[in-house]
Amino acid sequence: MGRFPYPELPCRELILTPRGAGMRKSFGAVELLKDMSLAANEGEFLALVGPSGCGKSTLLAIIAGLESATEGDVMIGDRRVNDVPPKDRDIAMVFQSHALYPTMTVRENMAFGMKSRRVPKDHQREAIARVAALLQIEAMTLATRIAVMHKGVLQQFDVPKVIHEHPSNLFVAGFMGSPSMNVLPATVAKGGRLHLSLGDGRTADLPTAPGQPLPAPGARVEGRVTLPVEAVEPTGSETMVVLRAAGQEVIARYEPDDAPEPGQMSDLVIDMGKASLFDPKTELRI
Ligand SMILES: Nc1ncnc2c1ncn2[C@@H]1O[C@H](COP(=O)(O)OP(=O)(O)OP(=O)(O)O)[C@@H](O)[C@H]1O
Ligand SMILES: [Mg+2]
Repeated sequence: MGRFPYPELPCRELILTPRGAGMRKSFGAVELLKDMSLAANEGEFLALVGPSGCGKSTLLAIIAGLESATEGDVMIGDRRVNDVPPKDRDIAMVFQSHALYPTMTVRENMAFGMKSRRVPKDHQREAIARVAALLQIEAMTLATRIAVMHKGVLQQFDVPKVIHEHPSNLFVAGFMGSPSMNVLPATVAKGGRLHLSLGDGRTADLPTAPGQPLPAPGARVEGRVTLPVEAVEPTGSETMVVLRAAGQEVIARYEPDDAPEPGQMSDLVIDMGKASLFDPKTELRI
């Protein structure tokens, strides 16, 4: 679905519109895509992410015209393409490995579509070099916006910075990032502080309040906890440290020279301006 941000490529607007309740796709009794509504701008590079089976390929196949939506419209520019055959949509799709021609090299697979359309050889070479360079880069670092899907439902659709720093719910917080956001159970204590049970009868109070705007990044408000170190993984420029709190793993980045040893207790300083609060019942961001 990504339209690469190259000015020489024809980039048009792509819209999956809600018609009534939104785009839906069912296979028999199984509803795979639920209330899907997305609008990509002209020239935008959009990354679609989500766990295996959440419906990414199905959505792409609907956009390309290889599958049809059960409900809802696909618009490219101002043209409704629901009934337009794939070859007339001017869309290219690179399949996952099982749909490639195994007897061909990667280059031959990439050239196949252009060869059958009799694109001149030097144009083919140029296009392959450009796309091959792109494919080596993590799609997410190129994306202008990321659509996060889970069980056929769009969870969040925003620029990478907002997705990483302000995930809309616990699923997005746990799915995005490497490592993903640390999630710990907390209750609200007197004075609006967050009360954490760290395990072993130890507790910590952190200075923030649900429902209140979190402190601006400039005005740093710090929370402090001391946690046992379980494992240490040096990766070169930084060292990843696995600690434990409330029976759960907490992963923290350390400067290699400051990293603790397994078995030690380590003092953590939490930048509360970067903390997110979620309602444990609805799992939505507060
Ligand atoms: N034609 C079909 N008939 C019935 N079920 C289907 C059909 N096509 C896909 N599915 C089911 O829909 C679900 C979503 O599949 P889809 O391939 O869209 O997921 P995905 O997000 O692309 O996963 P992955 O990350 O593994 O590629 C899967 O459970 C799959 O078995
Ligand atoms: Mg897929």
